[in-house]
Amino acid sequence: MTTALITGATAGIGAAFARRLAGDGHNLVLVARNEKRLREQATELHDRHGVEVSVLVADLATDDGIATVEKRLGDRTHPVDLLVNNAGFGNKGEFLEVPMADELTMLKVHCEAVLRLTSEAVKGMRERRRGGVVNVASVAAFVPRGTYGASKAWVVQFTQGVARDLAGSNVRLMALCPGFVRTEFHERAGMGTDNIPDWMWLDADKLVDAAMKDLARGKSLSVPDPRYKALMGVAKLAPRNLLGGITSKTGRKYGPQ
Ligand SMILES: NC(=O)c1ccc[n+]([C@@H]2O[C@H](COP(=O)([O-])OP(=O)(O)OC[C@H]3O[C@@H](n4cnc5c(N)ncnc54)[C@H](OP(=O)(O)O)[C@@H]3O)[C@@H](O)[C@H]2O)c1
Repeated sequence: MTTALITGATAGIGAAFARRLAGDGHNLVLVARNEKRLREQATELHDRHGVEVSVLVADLATDDGIATVEKRLGDRTHPVDLLVNNAGFGNKGEFLEVPMADELTMLKVHCEAVLRLTSEAVKGMRERRRGGVVNVASVAAFVPRGTYGASKAWVVQFTQGVARDLAGSNVRLMALCPGFVRTEFHERAGMGTDNIPDWMWLDADKLVDAAMKDLARGKSLSVPDPRYKALMGVAKLAPRNLLGGITSKTGRKYGPQ
């Protein structure tokens, strides 16, 4: 039995990781802010899959919340073998419309929490000479997309850099870069989604299956869908200005759904 810790486990991509990993027989530590939702999910996964599921209520936008999860990751008597840094969100509006406090909160959750939790987790993993970290970034990491894209670009660069530093230690790190996934993300951010074509939407469970395959293959970067692999190929060749014009609009329609 191994143990996986998933942040942002109660919804969307994190919940899909929880279902998949419980189905594979891993014990779980689920992290999010909503305690009631965490407990219901823990009971359901335990009852369905017979694995041990514990919960940690933590707001990763706060030092206390990050410290709570660091403490669990540092517990050498109950080692965590797989860390999924998944918690994240979008802000409503373009730059200067978003309050500075919200931009800073995004950097805290997407960057500082990922930095601190990855660091704490890989210390023990390196000693035990086994383990893995999946840091959920986004294809927005590769296109001009304000603080969100910049924070996800940091996740990609950071993860691939650490993966290189730890090469040979038997600890795997992978940045996962989804395209649009049907989750609570857009509704929570107050983003309308009707200008996103149907073919661009990914299913969270299929995304996680593909991500787990890429992790097993030892990839440090996963763009787990042929549609987005092709789009990212085109994006590399497209002039930066054109790319910015297209991508700053798609999926950024703010207002009612
Ligand atoms: N959906 C997409 O199209 C898409 C595309 C590319 C990348 N992503 C990335 O995928 C990740 C997961 O997003 P999702 O689409 O699954 O979103 P989601 O459905 O809104 O789920 C977000 C999860 O994160 C938790 N969370 C949010 N803020 C938190 C905080 N401050 N502290 C602790 N937990 C927090 C939420 O639970 P609580 O509210 O209970 O805390 C929830 O469990 C994010 O990093 C996002 O940037 C999403």
